[in-house]
Amino acid sequence: MTQYQPFWWQTGIIYQVYPRSFKDNNADGIGDLQGIHEKLGYLSWLGVDAIWLSPIYPSPMVDFGYDISDFTDIDPLFGDLAAFDHLVQEAHALGIKVILDFVPNHSSDEHEWFKASRSSRDNPKHGWYIWRDPVPGGGPPNNWLSHFGGSAWEYDAGLGEYYMHTFHTTQPDLDWRNPLVRQAMYDVMRFWLNRGVDGFRIDVLPFLVKDENLRDNPLNPDWQEGAPYYLRIFRVYSENQPGIHRLVQELRQVAEEYSDRVLIGEIYLPYKELVRYYGDNLSGIHLPFNFQLILLADWRAEKIKDLVDSYEATLPVGAWPNWVLGNHDNPRVVSRLGPGQARVAQMLLLTLRGTPTFYYGDELGMHNVKIPPELAHDPQEKSSPGFGRDPARTPMQWDSTLNAGFCSPAAIPWLPVAEDYLQINVEEEKADPASMLTLVHELIGLRKAQPALHSGDYIALNSGTENCFGYIRKWVNQAFLVILNFSDQPRFFNLPDEFKQGRIVLSTYLDREGPVGPVKIELRENEGLIIEV
Ligand code: NOJ
Repeated sequence: MTQYQPFWWQTGIIYQVYPRSFKDNNADGIGDLQGIHEKLGYLSWLGVDAIWLSPIYPSPMVDFGYDISDFTDIDPLFGDLAAFDHLVQEAHALGIKVILDFVPNHSSDEHEWFKASRSSRDNPKHGWYIWRDPVPGGGPPNNWLSHFGGSAWEYDAGLGEYYMHTFHTTQPDLDWRNPLVRQAMYDVMRFWLNRGVDGFRIDVLPFLVKDENLRDNPLNPDWQEGAPYYLRIFRVYSENQPGIHRLVQELRQVAEEYSDRVLIGEIYLPYKELVRYYGDNLSGIHLPFNFQLILLADWRAEKIKDLVDSYEATLPVGAWPNWVLGNHDNPRVVSRLGPGQARVAQMLLLTLRGTPTFYYGDELGMHNVKIPPELAHDPQEKSSPGFGRDPARTPMQWDSTLNAGFCSPAAIPWLPVAEDYLQINVEEEKADPASMLTLVHELIGLRKAQPALHSGDYIALNSGTENCFGYIRKWVNQAFLVILNFSDQPRFFNLPDEFKQGRIVLSTYLDREGPVGPVKIELRENEGLIIEV
C-alpha cells in the first residue's frame, strides 16, 4: 500500500502577518522584518506552519504596500534583502514556511515601468499598462469604477489618453494580455522563489483579465447611497473573464519549476466559479481562498452547515479545501460575531476539513479599533467613509507595556493600539488557562497531532438541535465529533451511537474533559466541544 503523503500546505496552518502592524524593531512605529524575526519563537510556539506576509516591497504606501514601485526589492521601512533572506532562513530553521504576497494586477505609478509607459505613446513600455483614447466627445472609455472611488480611468493630459486603475489612481493596472508583461511578472515570481520563498498569495487574481472590448458593466439596481461607490456596478466585464484560467495555468507552471511551493488566490467569487481556479485536472492554483465564513451575514448553524456542505459538494475531485476567518480587508472576527462566538468560530476553523488561515491577533481576540477620522490612513476610508480597513489593522498586542510591546514606549504606533491591550495581549493570555490564546493554542496542537482533524473525512450530521452544528472527522479507525452551539442559550445535543462512550477532549470554555453522558450532552451557550471515540 502506498503511504499517503500530504503536502505541507494541506496539513499545515497559515498565519497572515500584516508587517506594518506585527512588531516594530527600530522604533519608527511601523512593524518591520526584524520585528517578525524576533517573534518567530512565538509563531513556532503557537504551532503555525507558514506565515504569509502582506506586501513588503518598495512602495509609496498609498495602499499600504499594495502599490508597489519595485517588485524585486524590500521597502527600507521593513528592512532590506539581506534581512529578508535572514528571516526566511530562520523561519525555515524552525519549520515555518514563508509565503509572499504577489500583486500582479497593478503597480504603483512610481514604478519605473509605469514612468516609461506614460512617458510617450511610442515608449516600448507604453503597452504594458491599459491605455485608451477618450470616447468621442470626451470622457473615460467605459463606466468601470475604482474600488477607491470614482471612475476606474484617469486622464493623462500629456498623452491625451486614459489609463485604467481598478484601485487607487496611483495603482495603474498592468496589461496581462501583453506577453512581455506576463514574462516580466513570471520573472518576479522566480526572483523570490529562487530566494527560497515557499509560495505566493496572489492579489485579486480574477481581475487580471479584462473584457477584450472593455464593455460597460451593468448597473446594480440595489445600490444605495452610503454604500461604497464601486458597488454601483456589477463587475460582469471586469472580473473573472474568459482567458483567466489559461493565465492561472501559466502561473502554476512557474511554481512547478520549483518543488513544494504553493499558490493561493485572493478570489471573492461564489463556489461554482471559485472552484474553477483549481484548474482542469488541478492544473490551476492549489488553494483558491474560501472567504465564505467571513462573508456570511447570518451566523447560524443551518447557514454554516449549508455553506460547508455545498463547498464539499462543489470541490472538484482531489481539490484541497481551505477556510479563512479574517484578513486585513475585513472586520475582525470578534467584532463580527462577539467574543463568545469568536471562540466557536476558531473551533470551527480548526476542525473543518481544509487548510485554515489565521489573521494576526485573531488568536488573542483582538477586535476592531475605532480610528478617529484624523488618524485614518486607508484610501478606502477616504473614498467610502465607514468602510475603512484601518480598524482591523491595529498593532499586535504583545504585552502590557505602553504600546502593547508593539513598538518602544517612546515611539508613536502608525495606528492606535486597542484600549484593552492590558488584558488582551500575548503575555497575559499565555498565562491564563481560559484565554482565547490558550484555546487557539490547544486547538492547533490537537489538529496537528490528530490525522483525523488535519486530513480526515468530513461527515455532516443532522443534529435536529436548533442552532447547533455537528460533524464527524474520521481517519482510519480514529474519529472526532465536533458539536458547536451557535446560540446564546444552552442546548441538548443527541449523540450519535458511536460517540455515546466518547470523551470530551476540548471545550471552548477550556474547563471540561472526560466521558460524555450516556445519550445527550448539554452544550452551554456559545460552547463548542470536541469529542473523541
Ligand atoms: C486586495 C488586497 O487584499 C487589498 O488590501 C488591496 O487594497 C487591494 N487588493 C489592491 O491591491
